[in-house]
Amino acid sequence: MITLRTDYTIKTERLTAAKNALEEIKQDPMAGWLTVPVNDNELNRMKSAAEKIQSDSKYLVCIGIGGSYLGHKAVIDAIGNKSGVKVLYAGNSLSTTAFGEVLDEIGSNDFSVNVISKSGTTTEPAIAFRLFKAILKNRYGSNWTSRVYATTDAKKGALHDEAEKNGYESFVVPNNIGGRYSVLTAVGILPMLVAGIDVDTMLKAARTAAGWQEYDFGLAMNPANEDPAVHTFEEAVRYAIIRQDLYADEGLEMEVLASFEPRFATFAEWWKQLFGESEGKQNKGIFPASVVYTTDLHSLGQYMQEGRRNIFETVVKITTPSDREIKVPSEDGNLDGLDYLVGQNLDYINDKALEATVNAHKNGGIPVLSLEINDLKEKSIGELIYFFELACAISAKLSGVNPFDQPGVEAYKTNMFKLLGKPGF
Ligand code: PA5
Repeated sequence: MITLRTDYTIKTERLTAAKNALEEIKQDPMAGWLTVPVNDNELNRMKSAAEKIQSDSKYLVCIGIGGSYLGHKAVIDAIGNKSGVKVLYAGNSLSTTAFGEVLDEIGSNDFSVNVISKSGTTTEPAIAFRLFKAILKNRYGSNWTSRVYATTDAKKGALHDEAEKNGYESFVVPNNIGGRYSVLTAVGILPMLVAGIDVDTMLKAARTAAGWQEYDFGLAMNPANEDPAVHTFEEAVRYAIIRQDLYADEGLEMEVLASFEPRFATFAEWWKQLFGESEGKQNKGIFPASVVYTTDLHSLGQYMQEGRRNIFETVVKITTPSDREIKVPSEDGNLDGLDYLVGQNLDYINDKALEATVNAHKNGGIPVLSLEINDLKEKSIGELIYFFELACAISAKLSGVNPFDQPGVEAYKTNMFKLLGKPGF
């Protein structure tokens, strides 16, 4: 269950605007993610592919950038890899060092490749794929294509055409779902299955949250409602509205997503992509940033406490962050002065750090929203993905921009193609 704790009251005019935004989102041709659609046959094919990869590979190299890699990396990092196959990433930069590190890690071990690109034409993954194809051909001879899994458009694009020609096993990115909303499609599902994530439980949780579409609330907000579909939906609406209140009415231009759990760091990267690419357009948008405390209390914490007051903070509190218990041991002499903590769990101390930080930041003039989730397991993560996707779409609509396009990312590409002498540029 996701719970948003805040002192903000929701203004009626913004509730009405949110209701209108939701109607527009439902009609949008790029809102396929709203229903969490995954075809059963394709899911079974992905499960078989994951089993094959687990039986013949030590590594799966996921090639993709933006929405084609961040979502599944976020989930695998948050929940933890439960299989014997390590998932590596390539094609999300043009760094020689990053590419070399992946090659060094694989060494002479067996590996497979999941190349993921909706458009099938993105330069960074295309270059990485070409490099890995050369290695696969060299290592596996004529069998190399059986180690390539392509996730792309069902009908068009260079990757689609190549997959057909070479006979790669292929999975579909639905054409009504954009990259940053695609983690619960084949884009995220195959890598997550390979990592041993319980995808069925995640999909079930997200679909339960998607159940709001069956209800007609009239937006009568009732945060105490414990029906998971109603509750997640209402919390997403409240989060979206409060973000826009803080941005448009109070002039707070930056949101910092804070957690006290290092395993949540990549999830925050996905969150930044989701909100940044959805909202940052037409010279508008809340700049999304993230921190992991308590680590960052010793760096950005100073800025948060006393820097410019153009920020609000959303603190993610994970009620049960770990199944383990690590307690502070006793020590003769108490030379470090820590005897007052003997027998206390690290989680308890971390929780007190969270409470202390929230109070300090509030006193320092930073509005703080608290987002509580139960744990970093499949059910909570599935629900959280849906919560953020829905909140993001509503928030972008409330600020008057299209949540589903990203026209700005073309500018660097055109310049780069010119500089590199690509024909036609
Ligand atoms: O959210 C988006 O649409 C983008 O971040 C894309 O995912 C990213 O640009 C990669 O695109 P593609 O999957 O077409 O290679």
